Amino acid sequence: MRCQVAIIGGGPSGLLLSQLLHRAGIDTVVLERQSRDYVLSRIRAGVLEWGSVEMLREAGVGARMDAEGYPHDGVYLACRNEGFRIDFKDLVGKQVMVYGQTEVTRDLYEARDRMDGKVIHNVEGVQIHGADSDAPYVTYTRDGTEHRLDCDWVAGCDGFHGVSRQTIPASVLKEFERVYPFGWLGILSETPPVDDELIYAQHERGFALCSMRNARLSRYYVQVAQDDKVENWSDDAFWDELRRRIPEDAAERLVTGPSIEKSIAPLRSYVAEPMRWGRLFLVGDAAHIVPPTGAKGLNLAVSDVHYLYHALVQAYEGDEHGVAHYSEQALARVWKSERFSWSMTGLLHRFPDRGAFEARMQEAELDYLQHSRAAQTSLAENYVGLPY
Ligand code: FAD
Ligand code: DHB
Repeated sequence: MRCQVAIIGGGPSGLLLSQLLHRAGIDTVVLERQSRDYVLSRIRAGVLEWGSVEMLREAGVGARMDAEGYPHDGVYLACRNEGFRIDFKDLVGKQVMVYGQTEVTRDLYEARDRMDGKVIHNVEGVQIHGADSDAPYVTYTRDGTEHRLDCDWVAGCDGFHGVSRQTIPASVLKEFERVYPFGWLGILSETPPVDDELIYAQHERGFALCSMRNARLSRYYVQVAQDDKVENWSDDAFWDELRRRIPEDAAERLVTGPSIEKSIAPLRSYVAEPMRWGRLFLVGDAAHIVPPTGAKGLNLAVSDVHYLYHALVQAYEGDEHGVAHYSEQALARVWKSERFSWSMTGLLHRFPDRGAFEARMQEAELDYLQHSRAAQTSLAENYVGLPY
């Protein structure tokens, strides 16, 4: 089999890249390790930057998002039972869209089906060969049969645990990492959200976040210890802990119910450089991870796709400048989102290894943010997404 761009991974970045390239007349094959149902069962991100919204529209998959998504003009930050609002619309004239990653992925799969896009599920043992040559190819096994896919370029969209990054020799790859001493316990419940907007709460017991998917579906998170287990948390224990950490008025309004999903995600900051090695590109979580506090993970995957899509279109027009500079261009934005996610994490979490001085610094920073329009503008500018 042959295609122009072999895409490893059928998560949001692989599917979006495939969809955009197809519309530009560039042919792709997506190789995904899991089944479609499995990919669609993963509950992950919930907030889209406006740049991501526009990219999804450009890819022809914006209709359901525009009909069913919720544009938000701001978020609440809460500390010591007191909340204040960061008004994006007023501060930077922009919004974000609440529309879950599951829905984005579903829309992309449906669009790929309509265009007869090739997405091959349940592949095993994917290996990338000759990425540093002019004739790369990918091998994999499916239903016990070995396959070979020849291509011009390989896009590694296979997430943090994929093979693409591991294909880059250790002598070339530089890794930067910070692992945080806590995780997020998240639940999804068929209850109305506690507020129209998201609430990010700093509390001495630990961080909490009130989010949502739609008017009848809520998503809530509480900070837990790094080694905590989902089995330790009954639904009642979760709701009690959430109520303690959010402002009293919100706690009183909170409607609880059985969880329909419950999981713990560890928090990590990670960047691999470079994001291109010969004819192999790293895209999204394959190259970088952010702690979820700034809602940046999915959005960074989308901005990588933006740069790579334009670079590949340019390359097929005979100009490889974009391809040559993909890594630098993507990393410049990646590092700024890493910085924002790291700083939001530091601002809002309880760090078991920090002392009284750092706790006061955190309070002072929140107090500054509450009363300074300049500080709020900076947060808003980053939260809605820096320009591409
Ligand atoms: P992925 O979504 O990871 O997709 C990669 C795909 O590649 C997967 O489908 C995988 O099955 C496939 N794959 C892996 N290895 C191979 C292989 N060897 N061969 C073939 N296919 C392979 N971000 C937020 O902004 N907010 C959140 O609340 C949030 N929660 C998260 C919770 C969890 C548990 C995780 C892991 C991430 C979360 N994120 C969140 C981050 C966000 O979901 C990711 O940034 C986003 O999914 C990145 O998309 P991607 O397509 O690059 O990678
Ligand atoms: C959600 C997750 C986040 O990490 C975040 O910052 C905001 C919202 C969510 O899952 O809804």
